[in-house]
Amino acid sequence: METALVTGAARGIGRGIVERLAADGYRVIALDRRDDVLAMAAELSAGGAQVEAVVVDVQNRAAIAAIIERIAPLDVIVNNAGITSTRRFEDLTEADFRENFDINTLGTFVVAQEGARRMRNGGRIVNIASRSFAGAPQMAHYVASKTAVVGLTRAMAIDLSPRDIRVNAVAPGVVDTDMLHYMTPERQQVMLSLQLLGRIGQPEDIARAVAFLASRDNRYITGQVLIVDGGRSLGQGQLPPEASPYN
Ligand SMILES: NC(=O)c1ccc[n+]([C@@H]2O[C@H](COP(=O)([O-])OP(=O)(O)OC[C@H]3O[C@@H](n4cnc5c(N)ncnc54)[C@H](O)[C@@H]3O)[C@@H](O)[C@H]2O)c1
Repeated sequence: METALVTGAARGIGRGIVERLAADGYRVIALDRRDDVLAMAAELSAGGAQVEAVVVDVQNRAAIAAIIERIAPLDVIVNNAGITSTRRFEDLTEADFRENFDINTLGTFVVAQEGARRMRNGGRIVNIASRSFAGAPQMAHYVASKTAVVGLTRAMAIDLSPRDIRVNAVAPGVVDTDMLHYMTPERQQVMLSLQLLGRIGQPEDIARAVAFLASRDNRYITGQVLIVDGGRSLGQGQLPPEASPYN
């Protein structure tokens, strides 16, 4: 049985990834700074899954190292923990910027580095970036932190290639999680109209892509960013029914 470590696992996309990897037969170590990660793991374990939860902040290197030391060797790491907010560029503070970099970028680096030191050769790392690395309004701090995750992914793919560790990023579009609460209902409506496939993504849509890149089936893909956004990045939005050639 392979061991997978997932951060930001208490809810949303992280929980979706834990459920999927557990169903695929991994022993999953679920980390989150929220203590409801414990109840989540207990619920999945009661259903027969091998899920262990630890309450920890990804910014706490010593605690992360101790957890990994105990559960090693690792086969898969999914760096999913992240935060976001919106703020006009003119009003952004250095504190906003630092917080997003500390958690989204540095947190990914810390867990990936501690994990890579205790990972079997042939392991897989998946970093959760965001489609917003291509740009998004009033989120310069978040966009910059996630663009850095993309760069980190590419650099790690190069540096860990001698050990056959494949490192990729998944860049979700809009996904139905608590993170969406920063959007007003009006902005959510606009986002929906931009989704080519006509719906907002669900955590399992992201988990399916992560599961493939994290699997041993991914033998020859490394340093890539897989955008999972229901086609939004094609820039078309939803076609009105009368414009469809298939009616
Ligand atoms: N929801 C979206 O539309 C969307 C789109 C693109 C990318 N993403 C990315 O997907 C990831 C998951 O997002 P989500 O929508 O599920 O968010 P969420 O807020 O529902 O869940 C994030 C989880 O990460 C945990 N977390 C945050 N900071 C942490 C820290 N310092 N240490 C440990 N745990 C921490 C939170 O406690 C929470 O359980 C994030 O990296 C986010 O940037 C989300």
